[in-house]
Amino acid sequence: MEKDQLPKKISRRSFLSTTGKLTLGAAGILAGSAGLFYYGALQQRKGMEKSSAEIPENVVNLGEFDWFQTAQGVEKIDYEAVIRDAWATKPVKGFVYVTKDETGKLVVFSPVCTHLGCTINPSSETEKKSRPEMLFSCPCHGAQYDAKGNEIRLQLPPLDTYEPIIAGGSVYIDISAPIKRQRS
Ligand code: FES
Repeated sequence: MEKDQLPKKISRRSFLSTTGKLTLGAAGILAGSAGLFYYGALQQRKGMEKSSAEIPENVVNLGEFDWFQTAQGVEKIDYEAVIRDAWATKPVKGFVYVTKDETGKLVVFSPVCTHLGCTINPSSETEKKSRPEMLFSCPCHGAQYDAKGNEIRLQLPPLDTYEPIIAGGSVYIDISAPIKRQRS
């Protein structure tokens, strides 16, 4: 979805350049990324206004939780962030795909094909007609991924995912921590 097609409250949403120090009511964020994951896994919405903390620079805001609950299909969400390690500070820009699984839980996919790293696209209407389970396809060598991010044509590993962190009414991910998965 293009930004100008988003509902007004979404189009105003800044995909946070987390270089800004923003305040968020989320106790789990105090503990850094690992704490964020734990925090996000424990809850979807409860207890989020209890304290304030700074958002780490590698954690990006994807948008409002409520909006994702009403969204249908696959949303492409841009982000900007800063990743730091002991030696370097690296600004990064990119996007992820956000959808929901069959239970309604948010799923955040990396758009990087697990073959050679091309950027995948949501499958076209024609592709969906030929293979309904295909959610994404890769323009480089034809990899196809289903709604769980499993590759269904070339025996490749599944897409990386990001753990969604729900806090203060928004959905965040730690962009420095993609979850690599093995083919099952
Ligand atoms: S890079 Fe995607 S199929 Fe080769």
